[in-house]
Amino acid sequence: MAEPPAAPQPGSAPRASGRERMMEIFKGGLAGAKPAVPVIVEELERLAREKLPPQACDYVAGGAGSGATMLANLRGFERWRIVPRMLRDVAQRDWGLELFGQRLPAPLLLAPVGVQGILHPDAELATARAAAAAGVPFVLSTAASRTIEQVAEAIGGGPRWFQLYWGRDNNLAASMVSRAERAGYGAIVLTLDTPTLGWRERDLAHPYIPFLEGDGLANYFSDPVFRAALAQPPEQNPRAAIEYWASIFTNLRLGWNDIAFLRRHTRLPLLVKGIVHPDDASSAVAAGADAVIVSNHGGRQVDGAIGALDALPGVVQAVAGAVPVLFDSGVRRGADAAKALALGAKAVLLGRPYVWGLAAAGEQGVREMVANFLGDLDLTLALSGFASLAELNPSCLVRDAG
Ligand code: FNR
Repeated sequence: MAEPPAAPQPGSAPRASGRERMMEIFKGGLAGAKPAVPVIVEELERLAREKLPPQACDYVAGGAGSGATMLANLRGFERWRIVPRMLRDVAQRDWGLELFGQRLPAPLLLAPVGVQGILHPDAELATARAAAAAGVPFVLSTAASRTIEQVAEAIGGGPRWFQLYWGRDNNLAASMVSRAERAGYGAIVLTLDTPTLGWRERDLAHPYIPFLEGDGLANYFSDPVFRAALAQPPEQNPRAAIEYWASIFTNLRLGWNDIAFLRRHTRLPLLVKGIVHPDDASSAVAAGADAVIVSNHGGRQVDGAIGALDALPGVVQAVAGAVPVLFDSGVRRGADAAKALALGAKAVLLGRPYVWGLAAAGEQGVREMVANFLGDLDLTLALSGFASLAELNPSCLVRDAG
């Protein structure tokens, strides 16, 4: 008799097989069931849009200025083509990798996306549970609708990292980092591209920014350093707490020397997110960062900025293997991830697609979106002739001739 399959352990979820995922969906079809969560990412977005108020939709979909950088992110992938190889025995495949002593089942993380409470009542808790089910790390935003501690509880033993927005108060930054450390987060992701919010035309047109309505401030309102600075607690005087937040959120003074402060305050791996210039990548390594995330924040900060994938090879070259390079901004499908991995990214972060899943169907929406993405990635890599991440390199791609 066949042994029953072992229960999935957090952090070592079963290897995603694209074929199994595909058959599951097709068999559901035989029984007359359409996938409750659309497989096609554009349809998932459409369903999410139907469910969301226009200002929440635009908050997610919008970018800086004209949206040119968002477009550049997507176009970057079109300029590369995979050249599949044949007859390479890809029956046994392993997309697992080790990052900072953690074993990940696939080169995928869920990117920090703030204010998930405007998208679904379960907010980051739904995302956390879905990430834990897949064994994929969830990077919790500073600007979340649920606290560091609540998300840690929801995620159970699953891997989680904490993304830091370093505002004007160093003690507050240190406090949040130590809360994350106590709550079992495995790494700190310091976002460098948002010392203040970019000029986002759609948000300005409404005009709408969730934070001024008190959304996305759970980590501030629950923080002892933040609370100590207020005359009255946020529960009693939310308006004053929001105004205080607005006065300390931005910090345009930070420089590379400040990284040392964070290094002193945490023993966790420290990643810097938002790097697109090779020289900044070198500065990050020199400042002691444990990894670099190539990202332009999904085109939300600098209109007209370089597409993230276009920036990846230069950063990989500058880092020269000193630390891992991760990647986000524009990843929509397995092929996108395959291209970023071939160009030297160790792992990719999914952003808007899982957020549309959350808005469309809560935890189930994120779960299925992630399962489909992993299934697609598995089949894309397998059918291209690869069985492990180590086999991927730039020679697996060619520039698009068209
Ligand atoms: C983000 N992103 C982001 N990044 C971060 O470091 N902290 C944050 O709080 C947020 N919040 C946030 C909200 C929304 C609605 C979006 C769409 C994005 C950026 C995110 O981590 C990631 O870099 C981008 O989402 C990648 O671009 P795509 O692939 O989603 O287009």
